[in-house]
Amino acid sequence: MSDLLAGRVAVITGSGRGQGLSAARLFAEAGARVVINDLDEKTVGEAVEMIREAGGEVTGCVADVSNGEDVQCLMQTAKNEFGGIDILYNNAGIGYSATQRMGVGMEDILSCSEDDWRRIIDINLTGIFLCCKYGIPLLIEGGGGVVINTASIAALRGARNAHAYTASKGGIVSLTRSIAATYGSRGIRANTIAPGVIDTEMIQDYILSSEEARTAISQRTPVGRIGTADDIAQTALFLASDAASFITGQTIAVDGGATA
Ligand SMILES: NC(=O)c1ccc[n+]([C@@H]2O[C@H](COP(=O)([O-])OP(=O)(O)OC[C@H]3O[C@@H](n4cnc5c(N)ncnc54)[C@H](O)[C@@H]3O)[C@@H](O)[C@H]2O)c1
Repeated sequence: MSDLLAGRVAVITGSGRGQGLSAARLFAEAGARVVINDLDEKTVGEAVEMIREAGGEVTGCVADVSNGEDVQCLMQTAKNEFGGIDILYNNAGIGYSATQRMGVGMEDILSCSEDDWRRIIDINLTGIFLCCKYGIPLLIEGGGGVVINTASIAALRGARNAHAYTASKGGIVSLTRSIAATYGSRGIRANTIAPGVIDTEMIQDYILSSEEARTAISQRTPVGRIGTADDIAQTALFLASDAASFITGQTIAVDGGATA
């Protein structure tokens, strides 16, 4: 337990599971009041319950980050329940599991349909635009705060296939830099986390679908293992805290050395 985020309010998108849920738990343990967000009542409700049972202060809001009205409701929930926002952690995104969950193809540029391209950009990139558009005014109202955006190492070195995904994540790196440059004088820091291969449901049935694949990825990663949701949450906690008060506009790869 720490009190690194005591008194802060954090909105974490896509925090019903995976990296977002790990961050929500850790932020709550560090004293933050947390707004859980995801796409459905059950996922949000279970995450809220889990954190509340552990003694955290938490509320939830079902919202699709690619929908402007939903995002306005999400920010309003933070304001109504906790009085504002200090930390905006834009974690929600779709990747390989979107094919199974939503029928969105993750193929290469020649086989990606126009609709699938737009859907991926809409959620992964426009979602962050919308959260910043409606969230940053609340950060400013509170005298400043922190934006953390989730990209991917795919944005830094290119990924085979998954071109829309890669492009959406590249856009996030640039957008974050611009936010840092624009709003630094209003007390806002903005950084990007670029995760490597992280063991969550997004990729468990895809690039981590067999023991052989897991072993191969661990062996080619300099630190010798696959990343965990907690690896990302710990980085987010640092970036959200005052310990990172001189860090803004940066992209931090959390990838066990994959891009070293
Ligand atoms: N897992 C990896 O290896 C990996 C690698 C690089 C980047 N990332 C990124 O990390 C972030 C978190 O992913 P994860 O690994 O925890 O995956 P995950 O699929 O377990 O979690 C993502 C969460 O976001 C939610 N979500 C999706 N679309 C949403 C929307 N429109 N509105 C609100 N919520 C939405 C999902 O329902 C899910 O709960 C994503 O942005 C992902 O692209 C993951």
